[in-house]
Amino acid sequence: MNGKKIPDEQVNQLLQLANWAPTHGRTEPWRFFVYAGDKVKEFCYQHAELYKALTPSAKFEQAIYDKQLHYGDLASHLIIAIMQRGNSPKIPVLEEIAATAAAIQNILLGVSATGIAGFWSTSGMTHHPVMKVFLELKKEDVVMGMLYLGYSDEQPEGKRQTTMEEKVVWK
Ligand SMILES: Cc1cc2nc3c(=O)[nH]c(=O)nc-3n(C[C@H](O)[C@H](O)[C@H](O)COP(=O)(O)O)c2cc1C
Repeated sequence: MNGKKIPDEQVNQLLQLANWAPTHGRTEPWRFFVYAGDKVKEFCYQHAELYKALTPSAKFEQAIYDKQLHYGDLASHLIIAIMQRGNSPKIPVLEEIAATAAAIQNILLGVSATGIAGFWSTSGMTHHPVMKVFLELKKEDVVMGMLYLGYSDEQPEGKRQTTMEEKVVWK
């Protein structure tokens, strides 16, 4: 990314797309925390500090700390996507996660259609229980990932290992 900023209003429009994801039982489990400007760097610092605090000193790697610290340096916004588990036991967790992933993909499609660069990351402490504590989530909620948004001077690689023909069977 090149450090260029996206107007907050445009990020709001991208978030609106998320609300049209499919949702079994209308539980609408997707939730988002949005960080802009200096708040992105602030979060990255806190993320790196969580890694340091939770990693035994024998296993601690300065390179991993630095990676987390600088992850968002050139990003414009960071969106943390959460699956907030509803209280409808008839809807399996898998489907709540699937609905939230669809909401995230709606954002990424909007990102791609408007020339924004987006990156879905689950690096560092994303899946560690401490992240739920940090974000004040319930145990049943799931941190689905961090979406870093910004602008890039590079074209996306658009690389896939195998074609769709190899993944589809017409019965
Ligand atoms: C749930 C999920 C988590 C991901 N986490 C990471 C990550 O932590 N680090 C990483 O390099 N790529 C991660 N990726 C992959 C990138 O977001 C991206 O899809 C990949 O680099 C391929 O780029 P493309 O989808 O634009 O072709 C993740 C993807 C998904 C779906």
